[in-house]
Amino acid sequence: MLTLIKNGYVIDPSSGREGIFDILIEEDRIIKVGSSLISEDEEKENMNHGKLTVIDAKGKYVMPGFVDLHVHLREPGFEYKETIETGSLAAAAGGFTTICSMPNTNPVTDSFATISDLLDRAKKVGLVNILPIGSITVGQAGKELADILGMKKAGAVALSEDGKSVMDPSLYMEAMKLAVEQDLPIFAHCEDSSLVRNGAMNEGARSQELGIPGIGNIVEDLIVARDILLAKETGAKLHICHCSTKDSVKFIAMAKKEGLSVTGEVCPHHFTLTDADIPSKESNYKMNPPLRSEEDLIALKEALRDGVIDVIATDHAPHSEEEKSKSFLEAPFGIVGLETAFALTNTELVKEGYLTARQMVEKMSLNPARILGIDRGSIGEGKVADIVIADPKAEYQIDKNSFRSKGKNTPFHGRKVFGRVEYTFVNGRVVYQYQCNKGKHQ
Ligand code: DOR
Ligand code: ZN
Ligand code: ZN
Repeated sequence: MLTLIKNGYVIDPSSGREGIFDILIEEDRIIKVGSSLISEDEEKENMNHGKLTVIDAKGKYVMPGFVDLHVHLREPGFEYKETIETGSLAAAAGGFTTICSMPNTNPVTDSFATISDLLDRAKKVGLVNILPIGSITVGQAGKELADILGMKKAGAVALSEDGKSVMDPSLYMEAMKLAVEQDLPIFAHCEDSSLVRNGAMNEGARSQELGIPGIGNIVEDLIVARDILLAKETGAKLHICHCSTKDSVKFIAMAKKEGLSVTGEVCPHHFTLTDADIPSKESNYKMNPPLRSEEDLIALKEALRDGVIDVIATDHAPHSEEEKSKSFLEAPFGIVGLETAFALTNTELVKEGYLTARQMVEKMSLNPARILGIDRGSIGEGKVADIVIADPKAEYQIDKNSFRSKGKNTPFHGRKVFGRVEYTFVNGRVVYQYQCNKGKHQ
C-alpha cells in the first residue's frame, strides 16, 4: 500500500530540506521525497486499483511527527484522569507520534516489571510510540535508588523523579553515575521541597492580590543550579524539565558554554501566559512550576529563539473535573497540553517572530528525538513514516470539549489560535485525521 502526500511545504531540519515536495510512503517507511514522484497516469491507475492514497497537502506544513519528552499518562492507577488509550488519542490529535510517559503512576514505574507492564499496555493500544521514563528512587520516595539497570533492560529511555526533585544530593549523584553507565538521560523536575511550603502560584503582586501563597523563583533556580553542578561532577546527561524562570535559562546557558551535556525544555503555557493572566481563583491556571512574571516569559522566549532552550514539551497533566473544581489551594497542579501545543507554539512563537517554522520543528521533533537517541524527528528516504500535516493558517478557538484527552483542564479554552493538525501518521498509518464539525474534511 502506497500513500502520496502531494504539494506540501516540507520542513525537515535534519537534512535542511524545506520547500514544496511530495512524499511517498510504502508500508511504514518514507521511500521517496522529491517532485513529481509518480506520473499522473500511474497515479490514477494505482488509485483505481486501491493501491495508492493521495493526500493533497497544498498550503500545509509537512513535518516529522512531534516528540513529547514530558507526558503524564496516568495509567496504571489514575485511569479516571487519563488512560494510555485516551492519552495516545490526544497525542495523535496534537501531532505527536512519540511521547515519553512520566513515572508518577500507581504503581510508580521504578522496576523491570513496571516498565515492562507499561510497554505491554502501550503495545495493546498501538496508536503512537510510547517510551517509558523510569523513576530515580523506589516509589519516588527519595530514599533508595530504583533498579536503574533493570529499567534500562525493560526499555526505559530516561530517568526522572518528575512531580518532585531528588532532594538528597548524595543519592542523586549515585543515580547519575548509574545513569551514565546505562546511557540514560536524567529529566529533572527542579523544585526545592523545603522552600515551596504550601505555595500554589507564582510569588508576586498577583499572589498577594489573590491571597494565595506564592512559589518564588528561588524554588526552581536553586535546584537547577545544583543539578547542573551534580551533572558536571558525574558527567550525566541532564535535561531540565519545564523551565519557568529567567535564571533557570541563565544557568542552562552557562552550562552549555562550559560544554556540559545539559539541555532545557519549556512548556507552551509558560511562554503564553503570566501570573497576571490568572483571572481569579481559577485552578485551570494552576500548574507546577507556576505561571511566572512577564520578565520570565520574555526570557523564556528569547532562550527558545537563541537556542538555549532545545525543546518544547507539554507536561500534559490531566486531572478530573471534580479535582480541578476544588479551590485554587486544594486543586492538584497540572494542565493538559498535547492538543494545544502546536497551535500555541505556532501562534505565540512563529507568528510573533521568535522562531522560524524550522526552529519550531527542531524543538518539537528533532531535538527531543536526539536527546532520546532515537531515529525519529526527520523526513528522509528510508526513515519511519512518523509525519504530521498541519495547516499553519487555520484560525479557530480552542475548544476543550473537542479534546480526545479525558482531561479538560486547560486555561486555553476559548483562546484564538492559528495552526491546526490535520493528519498524523505513525509507522505510515493514519492515526488521526481532522474532521470539521460538518463531518466534511477540510
Ligand atoms: O503541574 C504539574 N503536574 N507538575 C508536575 O510536576 C506534576 C504534574 C502532575 O503529575 O500532575
Ligand atoms: Zn514536573
Ligand atoms: Zn510533569
